[in-house]
Amino acid sequence: MPQITILQALHQARRDIGDTDARMLLQSVLSVSPAHLATHPEQELTAEQAQSFCLLTTRRVHGEPVAYLVGKREFYSLDFNVTPAVLIPRPETELLVDLALQRISPDRPCKVLDLGTGSGAIALTLARHRPLADIVAVDFSSDAVAVAKMNARQLNVSNVRIIEADWFGGLSGERFDLIVSNPPYIASGDPHLAQGDLRFEPRMALTGEAGSDGLDCIRCIITSAPRYLVADGVLLFEHGYDQAQACRHLLGKAGFRGVFSHPDLAGIMRISGGRLGSFPREAVRM
Ligand SMILES: C[S@@+](CC[C@H](N)C(=O)[O-])C[C@H]1O[C@@H](n2cnc3c(N)ncnc32)[C@H](O)[C@@H]1O
Repeated sequence: MPQITILQALHQARRDIGDTDARMLLQSVLSVSPAHLATHPEQELTAEQAQSFCLLTTRRVHGEPVAYLVGKREFYSLDFNVTPAVLIPRPETELLVDLALQRISPDRPCKVLDLGTGSGAIALTLARHRPLADIVAVDFSSDAVAVAKMNARQLNVSNVRIIEADWFGGLSGERFDLIVSNPPYIASGDPHLAQGDLRFEPRMALTGEAGSDGLDCIRCIITSAPRYLVADGVLLFEHGYDQAQACRHLLGKAGFRGVFSHPDLAGIMRISGGRLGSFPREAVRM
């Protein structure tokens, strides 16, 4: 096989998969930084590297997400290992982390629960930013739990306990100051499930048992959360673009006060939450 340089490899691949994806795949095959690709265009690939790159490019052409092909995704400026057993962490979910961090004091211990942790993106990011927090991360999938534990080791996080359980199943008697979740919320018949990256992500992560309106997991979390929160504990969770009103209604019905929804950068309400107890509305940080 004739030898091929970095420049030639990128040139050929970008026609099929675009420049950004081509660079990410080649960086992964060569185990080099973006700067290395830019500064060593004449470097020749070994036959093995050329073959791996060609294989990954073909898989990308067939739609496999880059994150699964390279086994990594950045979230909140941290690198997470991802496998097809976990949802690829989304930039939208960084907003949930922002809102959670606003509610966890950096100076005091507190107990936090992340329901449906997947790669551990939310729990481990909170742990890195709030070392005094005592965090529990739960997932139903043993494969997801294994990925989250690998990420905890790699990110050097020791204040997160990662357990395999069905939502609150393994937490009897525990109470938390804050519960966060990015649960499955896509309705089981949603046509988007047959498009783009979603085709390759675990159904358990996208729809779980979200039901025909996508709200079953959220209903379950909202109705059970009061038994696992301290008296003025807070529940915060991500949901679909058209679910905010229904979520606020469910929160109110379950006894949460100061119920709110928070918009993403596009102005779409994607996070909702509330606080337990009978606090006046203005006492709750929105
Ligand atoms: C939308 S993914 C979120 C993953 C991760 N928190 C993130 O934001 O990238 C939802 C997660 O909930 C988990 N899950 C689904 N049903 C569950 C259940 N009954 N109990 C616990 N976890 C569940 C899935 O395995 C999946 O990892």
